[in-house]
Amino acid sequence: MSSDHKSPFRIAVLGSSRGLGRAIVEAHSHREGVQILGFARKPGPEFSSVKWVQADFSKEEGQINCLNALSDFSPQRIIYAAGGGPFGPFSSRSWRDHLWSYNVTLLFPARLCHWALAQRSEARPSQVCLIGSSVAEARPDQNAASYASSKHGLIGLWSTLKEESDAIDWRLYSPGYMDTDLLPKGAVVRQQPVWDPRQVATDLLTWLDSGQRHDHRSLAIHPPRE
Ligand SMILES: NC(=O)c1ccc[n+]([C@@H]2O[C@H](COP(=O)([O-])OP(=O)(O)OC[C@H]3O[C@@H](n4cnc5c(N)ncnc54)[C@H](OP(=O)(O)O)[C@@H]3O)[C@@H](O)[C@H]2O)c1
Repeated sequence: MSSDHKSPFRIAVLGSSRGLGRAIVEAHSHREGVQILGFARKPGPEFSSVKWVQADFSKEEGQINCLNALSDFSPQRIIYAAGGGPFGPFSSRSWRDHLWSYNVTLLFPARLCHWALAQRSEARPSQVCLIGSSVAEARPDQNAASYASSKHGLIGLWSTLKEESDAIDWRLYSPGYMDTDLLPKGAVVRQQPVWDPRQVATDLLTWLDSGQRHDHRSLAIHPPRE
């Protein structure tokens, strides 16, 4: 990350009102010379360095609003943190719910990458980070078929884009289970330790600043017991 007094480092965090995205905004907001544009359906926490855009990524209008705001803001770093999907056997959930999952978890991030590549070189983001899942992206995730297939798709997207284009530092960061709204309070997996999203955000930012271009970082599904 580099910035000087005249040109702050501009970061866009998509899906940033709660959970990991919020923790990323909070971790960035403590840094000097940073401007953040946050996106979600509801506004997130107030910080002097953060501006908010309300957009629903499951809808065409929300996607266009988001891409227009990104064009105006011209971020150097983009982190796409939104994701989710219905829980239950594939056939027991409506197609509408699955479509929501594909739109928010896979299709809009793919469109975002397409948008980023289409920008003029001086306005193009230098780094795009997608958030995967060490739980769901490389193995079955029973009762989460649309979510898991979207996360598998993000690996295919990231691994192909990094071969096709060196114009952007493509990153994929895959957390394990985290203590966020996405993981219901009574979930069986909470019987083992889960990651603190603030700890994950700190790890993510350190890696984005210093890791290898086109890297993939994957956390353990559960953090080690203390
Ligand atoms: N939690 C876990 O155990 C876990 C494990 C592995 C990977 N992950 C991944 O980590 C990332 C962050 O997950 P999280 O646990 O922090 O999720 P979360 O707590 O559910 O937060 C999701 C964020 O995305 C926003 N969002 C959701 N749907 C949106 C939409 N349609 N349009 C715009 N914004 C939307 C939410 O804000 P609004 O509701 O205000 O829109 C919120 O800010 C996701 O990609 C997730 O798949 C999570």
